[in-house]
This record gives sequence, structure tokens and C-alpha cells, in this order.
Amino acid sequence: MHSFDVLFSTLAALAASVGATPLNSRQAASWPDPEACTGNCTYVHDPSVIRRSDGTWFRFSTLGNIAIATAPSLTGPWTYEGAMLPDGSSIDVIAGQGLWAPDVSLLDGTYYAYYAVSSSGIQTSDIGVATSSSADVGTWTDHGSIGIPKSSAYNLIDPNFFQQCDTCQNYFSFGSAWQMIYQTELNTDWTSWSGETPSQLAYNGSGSTFEEGSFQFWWPVDGTDYYYLFFSSGACCNTPPNLAPAGDEYKIMVCRSTSPTGPFTDEAGNNCQTGNGGTLVLGSHGSNVYAPGGQGVIVDPDSGLIALYYHYVNPTIGYNFDQFLFGFNYLDFSSGWPVVTS
Ligand SMILES: *[C@@H]1O[C@H](CO)[C@@H](O)[C@H](O)[C@H]1NC(C)=O
Ligand SMILES: *[C@@H]1O[C@H](CO)[C@@H](O)[C@H](O)[C@H]1NC(C)=O
Repeated sequence: MHSFDVLFSTLAALAASVGATPLNSRQAASWPDPEACTGNCTYVHDPSVIRRSDGTWFRFSTLGNIAIATAPSLTGPWTYEGAMLPDGSSIDVIAGQGLWAPDVSLLDGTYYAYYAVSSSGIQTSDIGVATSSSADVGTWTDHGSIGIPKSSAYNLIDPNFFQQCDTCQNYFSFGSAWQMIYQTELNTDWTSWSGETPSQLAYNGSGSTFEEGSFQFWWPVDGTDYYYLFFSSGACCNTPPNLAPAGDEYKIMVCRSTSPTGPFTDEAGNNCQTGNGGTLVLGSHGSNVYAPGGQGVIVDPDSGLIALYYHYVNPTIGYNFDQFLFGFNYLDFSSGWPVVTS
């Protein structure tokens, strides 16, 4: 997300790098518009999307103690249902804190929603978890912090839980403007930190912007298990006249590894932790899509397609916080790298 980036906008503008690295993209000219979205597709930041076994789609997002919306299909119509945690979190980080960037997984019949507790510009954020047996509004129980220690090395926002199978080792990534993307593990109760010291997964030292909002995804291509690390790079939420220099606004990037713990590299072979690597999946395009990010990936059992969902700004509507839109496109992994398709 995060409103922290608003503070960074001025800095980024001032520090606008003189020979910015060219974007590593092969199809910036041909990105399609987001697929159609009906019903409530606005006021969405950092969405997390799941499909319940009865066919109901749930969309969780930053806002009002985690907004929950439901729909009969990914395209909608989306209906806002209410807040996941109407009374907030038991975590107390700072006065005026918000709950950010939910990440929801179904694990052994229970929905686990990881969320960040933070406020603009602070590094003392925390990550908590709530559970529900149905995912419906009114059924969520907060369990508070998962106990990853705070550190000057990173910031506890933008959680993502990844587990390839029910009995597989889980991996938990998070991170922000402070040294970017980190990974650790949770205990098998999925509500507490394992004690595994977080290690850095991805970092970009080449500019004034940063990487956050990581999302891990497993997909086999031609018999090889690939672990994809999607993340958002750049400035998420600037408003005119303080927009980031073109190309430094939010964009969705990916790195890949044959191990869930890395090392991750981009399509050009650059290391994503030590070599500023990252392959562009989706950036601003046309006149209607600006700064896509806060993404996730889901296999849509209705269509059999893999969807990349995200938030974005439509400049013809506006850049304000409440004007962010929910969007998605389908991905083609056949080359071994995810490509947005029309
Ligand atoms: C649309 O959803 C947002 C949360 O994403 C909510 O704040 C807003 O009230 C909803 N609008 C309507 C008309 O329900
Ligand atoms: C790293 O930062 C530069 C400058 O902001 C940007 O152009 C580039 O896309 C970023 N790369 C990654 C992998 O985040």
C-alpha cells in the first residue's frame, strides 16, 4: 500500500534518479485493460481474494478494519458486506493506527487472515491474524500479533502466507520501505512465529523507490516446480501534483526460483536480492490504468485460468484514496514467466 508512500512522493520527486534503470518488460505496449468488474469495485487497496467452496468469492482489502466484499464470480457483482474486525485489532501499535493489506488463506478448513497494523511512516508496525470457519462478516475472531519481532532491519507490513501443500513447510513474507521483502516461517498452528530469523528475499538499491506487497505463488511449468515472488515496486498512492517520476509509480513485478526460499532471479537473470532484479508484469498503461499494485494471484476454478488481481488508479476518475479500483487480468505461465493476457 501504503500511505507511507505519500510521504515518500516528495522525496522521490526530489531524488528522481538521473539515469533510471530501464524497465525490464517485454510487452508494455500491449497490456490489456483490466477485465470487467461490476458492483462495488472502488475504494479497494491491497486486495486479497479467495473463492469459498460454495462458489462465493470474497475480497478483503485495506480500509475500515479490513473491508469484506462478496460476489458470485470474480467479475462481480461485488457487494460490500462490512468490516472483518469491527472493533479493530487487539494489537496496539500507535494512536490512529489502521489495519492494512489483508492476506487470506484456507488452511485445514479454517480461514486465516493475516493483516498489518500500522500508520503512515512508522517502522513499529506489527502483523496479526484473525480466523473464521466461513469467512463471512461477523464470524472473524482476532488472535492479535503472530509475534514476529520488530526490528530496525524491516517493517512488519504486507503479510503473505505461502504453503504449497497442507503438510508442506509454510513460508511467510512481509516487508516495506525498510530493506524491502523479508521471509520467515510460522508454526504449524499458523498463528504464531516459528522463531526462524527473517531473511531478506528481495531488495532494490537502484533508485529512490522500494518494493513491498510480496505474494508467493507456486506453479509447475514443463515439469519444473517454480516459486514466483510477485511484489509491488514504486510509489503506491501519490496524488497530483506530486506524482512519482514516470516509471517510479507502483508496478507489479515478479522474480522466480526453484526453491520457495530463493535465491530469486528475474527473467534477465538478475538476482532479486543482490542485483536489483525484477521482471515487470504489469505497469501503468493507456489512459485508464495507473500504478497497479497490491496484487495477488489466484487460480479461478470457474474458468480454470490464473488471475492476477490488484488495485489501480484510473486517472480519469481520480487518484484519491477512495477512488482506487479493483482490477484483474489473466496470466499465461507457459513460457515459465507470467504474462498478462487479453
Ligand atoms: C464499497 O466498498 C467499500 C470498501 O471496499 C466501502 O467502503 C463502501 O462503502 C462500499 N460502497 C457501497 C456503496 O457499498
Ligand atoms: C528499482 O528502482 C528503480 C528506480 O526507482 C526502478 O526503475 C526499478 O523498476 C526498480 N526495480 C525493481 C526490481 O524494483
